[in-house]
Amino acid sequence: MELENIELVATEEIEKCDDLDQLNETRVKYLGKKGLIQGFMSKMRDLSNEERPKFGALVNKIKAAIEERIKIAQEKLEEKKINKKLESEAIDVTLPGYKFNTGVIHPLMQTIEEIEDLFIGMGYEIAEGPEVEEDLYNFELLNLPKDHPARDMQDTFYINPNVLLRTHTSPVQARTMQAKQGKPIKVICPGKVYRRDDDDATHSHQFMQVEGLVLGKDISLADLKGTLLEVAKKVFGNEREIRLRPSFFPFTEPSVEVDVSCFKCNGKGCSICKNSGWIEVLGAGMVNNNVLKMNGYNPDEIQGFAFGIGVERFTMLKYGIEDIRNFYLNDQKFLNQFKGVK
Ligand code: PHE
Repeated sequence: MELENIELVATEEIEKCDDLDQLNETRVKYLGKKGLIQGFMSKMRDLSNEERPKFGALVNKIKAAIEERIKIAQEKLEEKKINKKLESEAIDVTLPGYKFNTGVIHPLMQTIEEIEDLFIGMGYEIAEGPEVEEDLYNFELLNLPKDHPARDMQDTFYINPNVLLRTHTSPVQARTMQAKQGKPIKVICPGKVYRRDDDDATHSHQFMQVEGLVLGKDISLADLKGTLLEVAKKVFGNEREIRLRPSFFPFTEPSVEVDVSCFKCNGKGCSICKNSGWIEVLGAGMVNNNVLKMNGYNPDEIQGFAFGIGVERFTMLKYGIEDIRNFYLNDQKFLNQFKGVK
């Protein structure tokens, strides 16, 4: 290549470089130790003394020009590289977010949590106990001796004659009384219970309860009524009223069945309340003196009330669910309806 052409050719080549590697190769080709410029430098030896300085000055000028072009090209390519990186890392804030599939708090748990919140607010503690329970706590200490006919209502699954699957969470109340030894109590006992029932739309061999127990000085049926009215309002709406009807449970005396005014028709009469304006929701009563005595309490000094809430029944009434089995099928279509309820 002629010395006169070299700057032009090098410039074209430099401008064609797409990245820094290519540019570096071009730099080596022209300016490297064995590069073209160096080639011209070596030729100087063959020149005469007059020609040499002129030629040297020309080669240096061309060398400097190529160096300058490379420097400019390098700056441009470096900027291009940074821009490319920034572009690839750019976040498009206008893109829609990912949709995360969140689960649902099971409707039964939602009801339990709602009831727990209410009672914690009223100063109750939450007590839990074993599901595989002794006959002693499930029946005997609750005034249901071995031959008591009321045991028929709560037939269950026996592990052996003295160990069974608990039929209610009342044994937790017996255990709490034994542990507190005559001192005041304010607890609720949520949990699973079992009965020897054939499963159908309204029966299940396993279901859930929240039972409550309050023991103290001068606790009366009026306290029970006031407490249950709060429960009815919290779960079924602020306008609810309740009424108590006489009933029987071996562990309470007197015993009551509690009705809530129908939240569907407001007491006018509809299919849910079977035209009575009232819906039966739970059982309750004043703790039987025998139960108090058996569990270390003196009925002359301390009395109290107990109640048992069926969690499935509450939830079915609240949402108009007609078949209890819906709760246990894990059907996403059923469960997803309770998204965002709580
Ligand atoms: N333990 C009773 C049941 O399971 C409910 C209940 C509890 C009734 C406390 C009265 C007092 O049927």
